Amino acid sequence: MVVTPQTLFTGQQLLWLPACASTNTEAQALIVQNRASDGCTVIADFQTAGRGQRGHHWEAAPAENLTLSVVWQPTFLAATQQFRLSQAVALGVHDWAQTLLGPDPKLKLKWPNDLYYGDQKLGGILIENTLSGATMQYSIVGIGLNINQQRFATPAATSVGQLTGRAYPREALAARLLECLERRYLQLRAGQVGQLRRAYLQALYRYQETHFFIIEDQQVSGQIVGVEDDGRLAVAIGNELRRFGLQEIRHG
Ligand code: BTN
Repeated sequence: MVVTPQTLFTGQQLLWLPACASTNTEAQALIVQNRASDGCTVIADFQTAGRGQRGHHWEAAPAENLTLSVVWQPTFLAATQQFRLSQAVALGVHDWAQTLLGPDPKLKLKWPNDLYYGDQKLGGILIENTLSGATMQYSIVGIGLNINQQRFATPAATSVGQLTGRAYPREALAARLLECLERRYLQLRAGQVGQLRRAYLQALYRYQETHFFIIEDQQVSGQIVGVEDDGRLAVAIGNELRRFGLQEIRHG
C-alpha cells in the first residue's frame, strides 16, 4: 500500500502490515528496538487482538477499515498535560471526518475521544503514553476508523461508507488522516491550547444538553458544562458541579 502524506514527519516512516495483534503493540516494539522515528506510523489490514478503551476489544472487518498507530515524542508536554494530546488527536480525527462528510452538526466527539455520527460510533482512539519522570516521552496514538465495512454486530456502530453509500480507497484516507493529525499536533506544539480547547468543546457530543448518565450504576440526569485540563468531565447535576474520570461516568 502506498501512502504519501504531505506532512513534515507524521507517517514519513510508515509500515503497512497485512496483519498483527495490535498496531499499538507493534509500535511499542519499534520504540523498544529504538527503530521508531517521531511520527512513525504502523497500519494493519487486520488486528487479531485490537484493543479499545476501558479494556474492550476493538473489532474491525479485515481490509475494510483503518487501524493504525502513530508514535510521537511530545516531550514538550508535562505528564499532567496528557489530555491536551488526547484533545488534539480527537480534533485531528474530527477534522478528517469533516473532509469526508462535510461540516455536519451530527459529527461529534464523544468524551473523551470517540468519533460519533449522531448516536453511532464511527471510530475510537486509544493513546498509550510513556513518561520520563514528570515529562511525556513517547505517545502511541492508536486510531480505529470504520471506513468501508457495511455490516456491524451492533446498531451503535457505523462507517463512513455506510453513511455515504460509497467505497473509499484506504491509502488516500490514511494520508489525509495523517495530515489532519499533524496539523493539530503542530498546533499543540505551538502552545495554542486555548484554541484546541474551544474547538474540542464545539465538537463535543451532548455538550450543554441535558441527558442521562450512568454514575455508580445509577442513571442520573445532568448536563456537560466543560472538560478540565486533566481531562475530567465536568457535569452539572442538580445544583452540584461534579467532575468525573473515565472509569466513573458514561453516557446513559
Ligand atoms: C475505543 O474506542 O475503545 C478505542 C479503539 C482504538 C482502536 C485502535 S485500532 C488501532 C490501535 N490498535 C489497537 O489495538 N487499538 C487501537
